[in-house]
Amino acid sequence: MKYFNTIEKSQLFYGNNIEVMDDLPAYSIDLIVTDPPYNFTKANCTKMYKETSKKLMSKSGLYDYDDETEECRIKAGFGREDIYRWLNMTPRLMKKMNAYIFCSEVQVPIYAEWAEENACKFSILVWEKPLTIISKSRFSQNAEFIVRIYDDGTALNKLEDCEQYNRILHFPVVTKKLTPTQKPVDLMARLIRLSSPVGGVVLDPFLGSGTTAVAAQRLGRKYIGIEKNQRFYRIAENRLKEECVQMELF
Ligand SMILES: C[S@@+](CC[C@H](N)C(=O)[O-])C[C@H]1O[C@@H](n2cnc3c(N)ncnc32)[C@H](O)[C@@H]1O
Repeated sequence: MKYFNTIEKSQLFYGNNIEVMDDLPAYSIDLIVTDPPYNFTKANCTKMYKETSKKLMSKSGLYDYDDETEECRIKAGFGREDIYRWLNMTPRLMKKMNAYIFCSEVQVPIYAEWAEENACKFSILVWEKPLTIISKSRFSQNAEFIVRIYDDGTALNKLEDCEQYNRILHFPVVTKKLTPTQKPVDLMARLIRLSSPVGGVVLDPFLGSGTTAVAAQRLGRKYIGIEKNQRFYRIAENRLKEECVQMELF
């Protein structure tokens, strides 16, 4: 028998998500919407550096940038062990397993394996981004993957607009990003609206610039956001403060 716990108010945490999640009350979270690091290889990173501005990459806390060689490497990969470490913390926290997780193509089978081992259902959504770079030697990088891992009894909310149930999500990328991997608020909002009750609690253990929390706040959900990079955490904190001011004004 599960005894649900109540989280009274939204909160941002600066720290390692494993430690913070360990302290959260059991069976208190309605939904996870999160965007953990992707598992880039060094080669991809170097390519990314070429395609992205030097300034942005060198400022990012996610990458090591070498001025002399102009090489850019991700600080650490995010493979099976990392994925299992944080996902294994979640069954204790969730009222019912109900999660949307952004991931790269190579990470999809790892999440699927975890879902199967934990007797959860599994499906894949695709975020289709507008085409930018067209190459004749490889498929375009205009899609990202979102895996849904969930239990029975987590049906989608009934919404008027049928487009909301489309498995392919069409949203433009964020221009003028505050952090390199910032996601669109409307994309996170779509998932939150579909899969959590008003007043429910949404957890994002890889908060980055705070997009999930901003979307939750706008939709009248509570949020718990965790970020270990101090600069990103401050950005998230400021965005949420601004969001509260905006909400008071209107
Ligand atoms: C892909 S970004 C999230 C971007 C976010 N969706 C946004 O819109 O800004 C992943 C974030 O997870 C954070 N992170 C990685 N490992 C973490 C950990 N163990 N605990 C807390 N945050 C972590 C990184 O610092 C990074 O900001």
